[in-house]
Amino acid sequence: MSQIKVPTYGGKLGVKNLLELRKNPIVFLDKIHKSHGPTVKFKCGPFNIYSITRTEHISYVMGPKWKNFSKDTPGYKGLSEYIGNGLLTHVRPSTWKQRKTALGPSFSRPAFKDSKDTILFWVRQMTESIQKSPKSFNMTEELRKVTLCIICDAMLGVQIYPQAKGISDAIETCINHSYLKAYNPFYILSPSGYKSHINMKSSRDVLRCFARGLLENQEAFAQSLFLQGLAKSQLSDAEKVDEIITLLQAGHETSATTLNWLFYRLASDSKLQTNLRDEIISNKEESPTDTDVWDKLNQCLYESLRFDPSTWIFDRKVVEDEKIVDFNARAGDLLLISPFIIHRDKEEWRYPNTFNVENFDLSKEQIPKNFMPFSVGPRLCPGRLLALMEIRAFAYLVLQKFNFAIVGEDNFDYKPSITLKLNKNLTLDFKQHN
Ligand code: HEM
Repeated sequence: MSQIKVPTYGGKLGVKNLLELRKNPIVFLDKIHKSHGPTVKFKCGPFNIYSITRTEHISYVMGPKWKNFSKDTPGYKGLSEYIGNGLLTHVRPSTWKQRKTALGPSFSRPAFKDSKDTILFWVRQMTESIQKSPKSFNMTEELRKVTLCIICDAMLGVQIYPQAKGISDAIETCINHSYLKAYNPFYILSPSGYKSHINMKSSRDVLRCFARGLLENQEAFAQSLFLQGLAKSQLSDAEKVDEIITLLQAGHETSATTLNWLFYRLASDSKLQTNLRDEIISNKEESPTDTDVWDKLNQCLYESLRFDPSTWIFDRKVVEDEKIVDFNARAGDLLLISPFIIHRDKEEWRYPNTFNVENFDLSKEQIPKNFMPFSVGPRLCPGRLLALMEIRAFAYLVLQKFNFAIVGEDNFDYKPSITLKLNKNLTLDFKQHN
C-alpha cells in the first residue's frame, strides 16, 4: 500500500485548535474533515492527534493490532479518575483479558436473554408513571433512573428505585467532570474547574459506597452472574469496586442517552410514530425484546444509533511507532475515532445528514461497514445485546400505549460530553390511544 501524506489542520502550537475543540468538538471535527478529507492531523495543546474515519484505518487500529493502540489517553484517563481501571478504561491487555474472562458469562447471550422479564418489568413501571402524569413528563430524568434500575436489577441483582436518582446524579456529575478535564490540562486553575473536581470527589464516594455495599450483599450475589464472576476473579476489593462502577456508568448512561435521542426523534415525527405503531399492532403476539421480527422498529432504532450515537467519540494512543495501513504515526500520537463523523459519510449513506430510517434496508441485511455505535474489535461493547433489547422494549411499550409530542419549543441541539447529549431535558406530553 503506497504512503499517503496526511493533511495537517492549523498551526504547530495547537493552542487555537485546543480552544476550538473545547468550544465545540463536533463543529471542530466536522469542519476539519470537510476541509481536509477523511484523515486529518492536528496539534491540540501538547498532543499530536489524527482524526481517522476510513474503515481500513479503523479496522487496523481496533482489530487484530488493538494491543498496539492503548486506552492510556486523556479521554479515558479523565473517566478512570472516577470509574477506576475497570473493563472500559483498562490499559494493560493481559490484565484486561483476565477481567474479560472472569466477567464474560455475565455478558453472554443466554444471560441477557434471562434479563428479558426484568427489562419489561421496569419499562412497564415507566409506562405506569406516564399514565399517572402524562402532561409535561420529564423523559430525560425518568430514563436515567429506569435504565439504572435495569442494569442494577439485571446484572447486579438489586432493585434500587428509591436510590436511583441519587446514583444517576452522581454518575452525571462525574461524567461532566471527566469531559471538562479531557484535553484541558488547565481545567483545575479555573474556579468552575476546581468546584467540579470537588463535586466529582463526593459523587465518586457515593458510587464507591454503593459498590462496596454490593460486595457484601449476599442476596445480590446469589442473583448476579456479574458479582459471582468478580468473586471468582483474582481482583482486589478496590478493583472489584472499579468494575461495578464501570458497569453502572457504561451500562446505564449510554442507554439513557440513546433512548433520549430516540424519543426526541419520534416525538418530532408523528408519521414515524404511526408507522411503527402499525407494525406493533400487527405483530402483537411477538415479544418486544425479540430481535428479528421488528423491521421498522429496528430500522428506526439503528437510524437513531447512527444519527445520534451516544458514544460519539473515543480515542487511542499509539504505543510504538506504527504504520497504520498507509501513513506513519509516532509513539505517543493520539487517534480520535468519532462514530458521529463516521456515520455521516456521504459515500456510505443515502441520507447522511438527515434522520431517515431508509438509511437501513434490513431486509437486504446491508448494514454499512462503518456503522459502529458499539465500537468494533476485541474492545467493542459487551453489553450491546442487552442495550438493544432494552431500547426496543422502551420504544415498543411506549408507542403501543401513547402518542407523544414535545412540550415547548423544538430548539434542541447536540451537547457533546463524554456521551452525546441533548442540550436540555426532554419533556413530553403523552396521550393514551385506544
Ligand atoms: C446504547 C447503549 C450503549 C452504547 C452506545 C455503548 C457503546 C459502547 C462503546 C462504543 C464501547 C467501546 C468504547 C471503546 O472502544 O473505546 C463500549 C464499551 C463497553 N460497554 Fe457499552 N454501550 C452501550 C450499552 C452498554 C451496556 C448496557 C453495558 C452493560 C451491560 C455496556 C458495557 C460496556 C463495557 C463493560 C465496555 C468496556 C468493554 C471493554 O473495553 O472491554 N455497554 N460501549
